Amino acid sequence: MRRPIIAGNWKMSKTGPEGAALAVGVAKAIGDIAGRRADVVLCPPFTALQAVAGALAGSAVKLGAQNVHWEKEGPYTGEVSPAMLRAIGCAYAIVGHSERRQYFGETDEGVNKRTRAAVGFGLTPIVCVGERLEERKAGRTGEVVTRQVRAALAGLTPEEVRQLVMAYEPVWAIGTGVAATAGDAQEVAGLIRKLLAETAGGDAAAQVRIQYGGSVKPENIADFMALPDVDGALVGGASLKADSFAAIVTAGAAAER
Ligand code: 13P
Repeated sequence: MRRPIIAGNWKMSKTGPEGAALAVGVAKAIGDIAGRRADVVLCPPFTALQAVAGALAGSAVKLGAQNVHWEKEGPYTGEVSPAMLRAIGCAYAIVGHSERRQYFGETDEGVNKRTRAAVGFGLTPIVCVGERLEERKAGRTGEVVTRQVRAALAGLTPEEVRQLVMAYEPVWAIGTGVAATAGDAQEVAGLIRKLLAETAGGDAAAQVRIQYGGSVKPENIADFMALPDVDGALVGGASLKADSFAAIVTAGAAAER
């Protein structure tokens, strides 16, 4: 049985003080769910990590970053290293989000380097994959996701694959209010688990949590959590308010699975 994992990706929202207030609100609203019935992760922008880490002290809610570089330190202007993220209290890092791929030129190869470095430094990567609308319309969803997953996992041992969290985020569902249907989400999550098994064996694949992301709300989280290969959610817009994120965590942790 895989423990549900619900993560909030705040994207480019919230200053330090705003983030600390939101984190306190989330921790209070979800009570003892975090760490007991679900893993709960908040991913603020880099500039709010310190403040949110302080606000989460003593809570089982975990801290995550929205990206991570592959080197420990060095001449990489604008990047943040896995060691720095560990030092500030991060346990997770999102890797390969479609907004990074789409607007900042991140490649499958870079996603692989970031994933390997995160694991190597003891961060749990949340590895994002997903097709664009035109790819889905052209019937290329399976091909695109297969390429992204194989590339992201290249060179990882089965022991390392076991430690990953995967996120299926169809690009057309992000921020649009139009979530994937349960059928589409299960089809791709099932494919991801099959690819994990090919790379790392059935045992490891059975342990990896797979999130769905894209217009997740309190009203639809239970539909996704009921799917056999979906174990959680990566939440954007609805994670920016304590009450809606807490409602997703509560419903997600309680869903029949
Ligand atoms: P929304 O929940 O706003 O659609 O964003 C999803 C997402 O991109 C999370 O990483």
